[in-house]
Amino acid sequence: MNRQTNPDITFSSSAGDFHTAWKAPSNIALIKYWGKHGNQFPNNPSLSITLNNAVTITRFHAKKREDKDGISLKYFFDGEQNRAFEERIFSRLNDLLSELPFLKKYAIRAESHNTFPYSAGVASSASSMAAISLFITELEQAETKSSYSENEFYRRASALARQFSGSASRSLFGGWAAWGASEAIPESSDHHAVPLTTSVHSIFENPGVAILVVSSTPKKVSSTRGHRLMDSHPFAEARYKQARNNLLNLLEALETGNFGQFAQIAENEALTLHSLLMTSSSDGLLLKPESLKIMEAIRNFRESTGTPVCFTLDAGPNILLIYPQEAKEKVVSFVQNSLIRFCENERWIDDCMGNGPEKLRY
Ligand code: DP6
Repeated sequence: MNRQTNPDITFSSSAGDFHTAWKAPSNIALIKYWGKHGNQFPNNPSLSITLNNAVTITRFHAKKREDKDGISLKYFFDGEQNRAFEERIFSRLNDLLSELPFLKKYAIRAESHNTFPYSAGVASSASSMAAISLFITELEQAETKSSYSENEFYRRASALARQFSGSASRSLFGGWAAWGASEAIPESSDHHAVPLTTSVHSIFENPGVAILVVSSTPKKVSSTRGHRLMDSHPFAEARYKQARNNLLNLLEALETGNFGQFAQIAENEALTLHSLLMTSSSDGLLLKPESLKIMEAIRNFRESTGTPVCFTLDAGPNILLIYPQEAKEKVVSFVQNSLIRFCENERWIDDCMGNGPEKLRY
């Protein structure tokens, strides 16, 4: 199934100004990217679900300017200028300047809004960085007068997103997305993500995702630092090997519809990520007692009722439940009756697999 939306790469322009708007989703990895090298290349392939409701909407306005020294960028989240985020983008854009010299010709203003709370357990950096990359790819097309095919357009945007934040590279595609070269995934690459084209059983075609917010306090260890700590972790090589094996077994489970096998791998990946975090740094103990209670309750519920549901986690205390749509009613009542008591202000987000980025009218 091709879930990509047509980019409709017509853009609005007046007096050489350029403006566009994108809705870009976040994603949650089932096979985790943890450890990188060089120019944001992953040490193992990863595989994720693109989310439907957890999205970032960004309007970009690039105003033609005379002064061509360096980059001019202002980034607003919900009307407030976000200097920290601006800095992060700024430094990456500077690194990319020789490849994207036209950026100097514009004063760029971005106005962004997330549909999901910050630190809810899904990465807002992935959706924000995917949106910026889509904007730059459109601008690049206009500036270089090139015409990318739909495939080329999203791959280019994904390669740019990778350089902003590795996991963002997967947010350019709907459904299941893979980043990192693997012989098992056609056209997979370390440079950009690809939509998964291997066969996927109907129970995994549109999984539900329930995001349980245990704590919305921002984590202490940044992903970038966490990746770096992997370089000296004594289990690093074994981990990269394990991720490759887990990927092969997960692809098999996706094809055959074996939920038990899927659950075993998804949970193993999440717990491995946290084991690595915990043993890398004293800041890496991110799980809360409530996180453990929820994980245990999910396993007990799956065993006692046979309901196909499992958990995964990002680098934080929040828990994401993954389940086939046919189990939605049972899972939602389980969440409401047994799990939200462990959540911060009983907060949880009902999401599912999404179709990928969408270009909006500016
Ligand atoms: C735990 O993509 O946030 O979410 O490339 O340094 O920006 P940088 O790291 P980032 O790492 C995310 C790691 C993860 C697992 C994953 O999404 O695969």
